[in-house]
Amino acid sequence: MKNAFITGGLGFIGSELAKSLIKNKIVKKCIILDNFGSFINPLKSNFKDYRQQRLDNVKNILIERGDASNEQIVLKLLQKYKPEYIYHTAALPLAKIDNLNAKEASIGSVDATRNILESLVFVKNNYKKYNFKRFVYFSSSMIYGDFKTKIINESSNANPKEIYGTLKLAGEVITKGLSNYYNIPYTIIRPSAVYGPKDMNQRVSQIFINKAIAGSNINIHGKDEKLDFTYIEDLVRGAILASTKKNGINNTFNITNGRGRSLLEFVVILKKYFPNLKYKLKSRDKFRPKRGTLSIQKAKKLIGYKPKISLEEGINKYLKFLKKI
Ligand SMILES: NC(=O)c1ccc[n+]([C@@H]2O[C@H](COP(=O)([O-])OP(=O)(O)OC[C@H]3O[C@@H](n4cnc5c(N)ncnc54)[C@H](O)[C@@H]3O)[C@@H](O)[C@H]2O)c1
Repeated sequence: MKNAFITGGLGFIGSELAKSLIKNKIVKKCIILDNFGSFINPLKSNFKDYRQQRLDNVKNILIERGDASNEQIVLKLLQKYKPEYIYHTAALPLAKIDNLNAKEASIGSVDATRNILESLVFVKNNYKKYNFKRFVYFSSSMIYGDFKTKIINESSNANPKEIYGTLKLAGEVITKGLSNYYNIPYTIIRPSAVYGPKDMNQRVSQIFINKAIAGSNINIHGKDEKLDFTYIEDLVRGAILASTKKNGINNTFNITNGRGRSLLEFVVILKKYFPNLKYKLKSRDKFRPKRGTLSIQKAKKLIGYKPKISLEEGINKYLKFLKKI
């Protein structure tokens, strides 16, 4: 039975991925490398670090603390476990923070991507029987920059307009270039606005729901600002399909809900649960690219991906979780 190596595996996406890979018997064991990085001020009143609980009660998980850009650590783990699948989710995942510190932001997306691929080549060259299957790089919809058309597909121009998107795209280029050179099968996933229980990074969905629960006013930055909100389970299912199906080899996929929804629509859904909820329309954050719908036709056709959770259902599930804590 196979092993998976997941960088950033204690994170929101990495931990759900680990659980699903084991539950669906795609791998026997998940080796997790995480540096326990913190991107949100832990003194914020509603901050909760779920990291310790994310993989509680899940068998066959091995957790190593360390940085994915550290050559010795990554090489040691790859030599020891010879994972068939590598999922590289480790990164500083919040655009606002990446934009303040390009050097720190490049560690996960640039340095670690190069390091993992080169360490993998070393192990492959030294163990001829190593049947490596896939390197999966988690990119972002921010690599497109401002969406120039109503719907963006994987062939649309990558034209990031801020640092986070630029470095996520740099990681894609490194993934493709090194994988082609060393003949490593890879898959690139482009998620967007992932949400759901146990995210602790205070993204817009969490901020809006927490404000609604607390009875505070919501500020909507940009009335027409749209995001392709994607429920965590859908992203994980899509990422697993993309990394295990043959058609996913050396391919790039948008894995999202496939429908841009405005921030105002999000708040209107919340108003069904909180009729007295008040909101104010404010000007949009200029650094954010103008986004919307990502086409998922390629993923539908090549790997059979179909999202199951609508924004309405997803908010209901996330709300239930956030109400309890
Ligand atoms: N959540 C989203 O909406 C979203 C959207 C698009 C892309 N992504 C991408 O998905 C990936 C995972 O995001 P997430 O939402 O799970 O974030 P997260 O913050 O919940 O998880 C990231 C994890 O990686 C770890 N980490 C960070 N840098 C590391 C390093 N250099 N070495 C080892 N561990 C490191 C952190 O400690 C954390 O546990 C990121 O690459 C992010 O850019 C996320």
